[in-house]
Amino acid sequence: MAVLVTGGAGYIGSHTVAALLERGEEVVIVDNLQQGHKEALLGGKLYVGDLRDAAFMDSVFQENDIDAIIHFAANSLVGESMTQPGKYYHNNVYGTLCLLEKMNQHGVGKIVFSSTAATYGEPENVPIDEYDRTLPTNAYGETKLSMEKMMKWFDVAHGIKSISLRYFNAAGAHESGRIGEDHRPETHLVPIVLEAALGKRPHIAVFGDDYDTADGTCIRDYIHVSDLADAHILAVDRLRGGADSSIYNLGNGKGFSVKEVIEIARAVTGKEIPAVIQPRRSGDPAVLVASSQRARSELGWNPRRDKLEDIIESAWKWHVAHPNGYQE
Ligand code: UFG
Repeated sequence: MAVLVTGGAGYIGSHTVAALLERGEEVVIVDNLQQGHKEALLGGKLYVGDLRDAAFMDSVFQENDIDAIIHFAANSLVGESMTQPGKYYHNNVYGTLCLLEKMNQHGVGKIVFSSTAATYGEPENVPIDEYDRTLPTNAYGETKLSMEKMMKWFDVAHGIKSISLRYFNAAGAHESGRIGEDHRPETHLVPIVLEAALGKRPHIAVFGDDYDTADGTCIRDYIHVSDLADAHILAVDRLRGGADSSIYNLGNGKGFSVKEVIEIARAVTGKEIPAVIQPRRSGDPAVLVASSQRARSELGWNPRRDKLEDIIESAWKWHVAHPNGYQE
């Protein structure tokens, strides 16, 4: 039996492929390489193509004995989703519809879905749990919520079981140092801070220091990408064991401000890392911190790389070894 990983050549996808291979799973990857990198794959069988290409997907299902899917393939830039929502509905929502139709047609009944804390929008409670209100403040989060809901109705009608994993802020790199984070363009705080430490950027721009938080900058819950990868495998196991559909938050339950992240990065790298305060970025909630109690108790998930110093250290190791990312 094989696990099909869509978007497996992307950042979180490639770390999950690595974790699946480490436990001896047969892995098939579908990626259109719009964002993914071939070099991010440490193994597995790669099909380059798009979920929306029916004939292509038929051949993937026909040529492999797939029993479960981990679905990452999607666009995920909050800012871009606000100017090009159509791109997000087409790739994310329609792409997922195509995938679910093909799963149904080929008799595959288990899917683990890469969702996001952006489904909550501005939180009502901190930490956020899975029963809290979902009211996305950006088109990206809205499409991910639509994808979750679509899966629910494919369960009702066709018995396709899904586990949606709502991640908070993924960061860090694989302990081997061979794979890491390489987005083009890069918009995420941790890699941008490390690019500033490497001298690839003159400074880090801090988006707003007038939020209602202790130091005025936004607070986020940073989680190691390999701890996320482990959660996907636990979710596959749970579905293989016959569990019903469900939704889990994945975070460490501890918030760090933008200024605190920069301070820790200065300590880890030994570099000065100049910071410049700039206006707020639109759509940024002040505080996003997860309650992951449910994932801990039901999935048996236990994040092992939960110190922010260690998360940033692992990312730094990757950045120093790959100053130009995957294409050197
Ligand atoms: N930030 C800066 N300067 C930068 C980049 C980011 O100050 O150059 C700040 C942001 O304003 C935010 C924090 O750093 O306050 C974290 O920003 P990221 O872009 O790294 O992450 P986000 O919290 O915006 O978004 C991430 C994922 C989304 C996901 C969301 C859910 O990128 O896909 O977490 O929590 F939806």
